[in-house]
Amino acid sequence: MSTTVIVGAQWGDEGKGKIVDLLTPSADFVVRYQGGANAGHTIVVNGCKTVLHLLPSGILRENVTSVIGNGVVIDPEVCLSELELVKSKGYLKDSSRFVISAYAHVVMPYHKLIDKLREEGAGDNKIGTTIRGIGPCYEDKVARLGIRMCDLVDEKIFRERLLAVLPQKNLYIERVLDHKPFAFDEIFAPYLKSGRELKKYVSDSAKLLNNALESGKKILFEGAQGTALDVDHGTYPFVTSSTTVASGAASGSGVGPNAIRQVVGVAKAYTTRVGSGPFPTELNDETGELLRKKGVEFGATTGRPRRCGWLDLEVLKRSKMVNGLTGLALMKLDVLTGLKKIKVAVEYNNAGAPVYKEFDGWKEDISKIDSVEKLPNNAVKYLKFIESSLNLPVMILSLGPERGSSVMIKNPFSVK
Ligand code: GDP
Ligand code: IMO
Ligand code: MG
Repeated sequence: MSTTVIVGAQWGDEGKGKIVDLLTPSADFVVRYQGGANAGHTIVVNGCKTVLHLLPSGILRENVTSVIGNGVVIDPEVCLSELELVKSKGYLKDSSRFVISAYAHVVMPYHKLIDKLREEGAGDNKIGTTIRGIGPCYEDKVARLGIRMCDLVDEKIFRERLLAVLPQKNLYIERVLDHKPFAFDEIFAPYLKSGRELKKYVSDSAKLLNNALESGKKILFEGAQGTALDVDHGTYPFVTSSTTVASGAASGSGVGPNAIRQVVGVAKAYTTRVGSGPFPTELNDETGELLRKKGVEFGATTGRPRRCGWLDLEVLKRSKMVNGLTGLALMKLDVLTGLKKIKVAVEYNNAGAPVYKEFDGWKEDISKIDSVEKLPNNAVKYLKFIESSLNLPVMILSLGPERGSSVMIKNPFSVK
């Protein structure tokens, strides 16, 4: 069995989209397994930037089937507009190469409204969500109040489900959030229309993927968000509402956990975070500002400035542990070029503050380098220190946003 899970090793936005796009030619299927349109995965091909929120990042390549698994929550409108976007750019010529799980849950208008009203009312306690309705949708899934894609595409069932669920949601919206309730028709008609348009993509994706595995096909799983945002393993309550870690690839797609072979953690050579919550190595100074500027650290979904700081090995060690990482993709090393000194948090002291090790920087432009040997000495020292501290190989080194600005040291699909 040849499978690889790509998972964010920090707080998201590590560059998962770029890595998935890079590895897609080695795979037959690319599968998103959790999260929803809260993700923003950037792929840059010949200077043309595409940001995908919901569609798998494999969709920009031919000869691969892109799958949205059952663990994902789908905003039909976003899905349709993204399909239009990629088709307008000449991708996805063959519609049969895109599949949506019948069991994936649907993000409804009341989920987005509840997300927004709660954030607005939370004051200093706000999570800083993307307001895409993700949390409220997963809540309904677990509460058995959800509407799935298989429900949405069947008019009778959709009507029954919405009639059963909407009064409960409206009660909460009116009584607790003090907001005008939804009328049945303002949701039913447009959603039914979207459901009709999406119907041809909806099928039993778990079966499709298991049949594929049986016939020796290769699967690339695309995580969204990051390990430190995982609902169990992240900085709770400042987390997202899904299982972002690698085990989510199994439950979120319907393959057995024993089907997972390689797990590549994607990590920036420094750290960023969007939204509220702890961030021990955050830099609220000019170095943080410099990283934000050079790294263009602004949210791909909300445009918010990302908080920036030094690399935190404690975060990555935990990430290795809870994901079972077998390798790393080290991203944005180019952004550190020009810094005199680079710090890495190697542990936390008794007071919980990070303890740093300091490295000398480098000045040479590394963005066009095609092998680790050609890197300046100080950059090699930095990379080797990360590898040895974590006891993990850097399998891919990324030195720029472009598809080609990468060094493939070891393709995870080639590991026996
Ligand atoms: P994702 O959510 O994990 O897919 O990451 P995002 O797309 O939200 O954020 C990563 C950002 O960094 C995007 O703007 C990428 O184009 C960019 N990027 C990815 N890899 C590199 C790299 O190696 N160097 C630089 N300078 N930018 C990169
Ligand atoms: P990608 O896949 C970075 C953050 C939000 C907020 C918290 C909860 O592009 O790496 P949510 O809307 O999920 O309820 O918000 O999670 N968050 C992300 N941060 N990258 C993401 O996705 C994120 N998706 C959610 O900023 O702090
Ligand atoms: Mg992102």
